[in-house]
Amino acid sequence: MSRILIAYSSTDGHTRTICARLRQVAQRQGHFTTVLPLAQSETLDLEAFDTIVIGASIRYGKHQPEVAKFIQRHQALLERKGNAFFTVNIVARKPEKSRPETNPYLIKFLRQISWKPKLLEVFAGRLDYPSYRFVDRFMIRLIMRMTNGPTDPKAVIDFTDWAQVDAFGLRLCSMP
Ligand SMILES: Cc1cc2nc3c(=O)[nH]c(=O)nc-3n(C[C@H](O)[C@H](O)[C@H](O)COP(=O)(O)O)c2cc1C
Repeated sequence: MSRILIAYSSTDGHTRTICARLRQVAQRQGHFTTVLPLAQSETLDLEAFDTIVIGASIRYGKHQPEVAKFIQRHQALLERKGNAFFTVNIVARKPEKSRPETNPYLIKFLRQISWKPKLLEVFAGRLDYPSYRFVDRFMIRLIMRMTNGPTDPKAVIDFTDWAQVDAFGLRLCSMP
């Protein structure tokens, strides 16, 4: 049994939901798993974990600044452990942008940091127009119109492939 920390950065909660699913998978495999926002993870004794996973969503082209800061602060520790990173974004709904080697946000982010995660994944996120503020709804609909995505302002669509999430959870469990 190993101890796994899944630390996340989530604005609307979807990345947190993905992390909760990963915890279910890991716990079913008999691992002790903690899921917490990145900020709260800072208060833990990170040395106590065998594997640390970081998950973060994209908003207007970027992960939240706390993600790179956490990585920078704890890079040496992360490198001593099993470690993984995943990103969540809407562009990943497109098959040609859905893999670590092809998702533009992940490619760019990895160029900006020097940490090389042992495991990488990209998940398509969730669209929830009714819950967005006016300006956000306007902007996302504009982006969707330009990329042939759904523009119905009532649309709530979960693009996440949950079987892919489960498979990633199992890969986490088999990390050395
Ligand atoms: C205001 C806003 C801006 C977003 N910007 C982008 C973006 O630039 N590129 C993208 O692929 N997805 C973008 N998304 C989609 C989110 O990444 C997606 O909804 C994800 O599921 C959000 O995860 P979270 O709830 O954990 O924050 C945006 C969503 C919102 C609400």
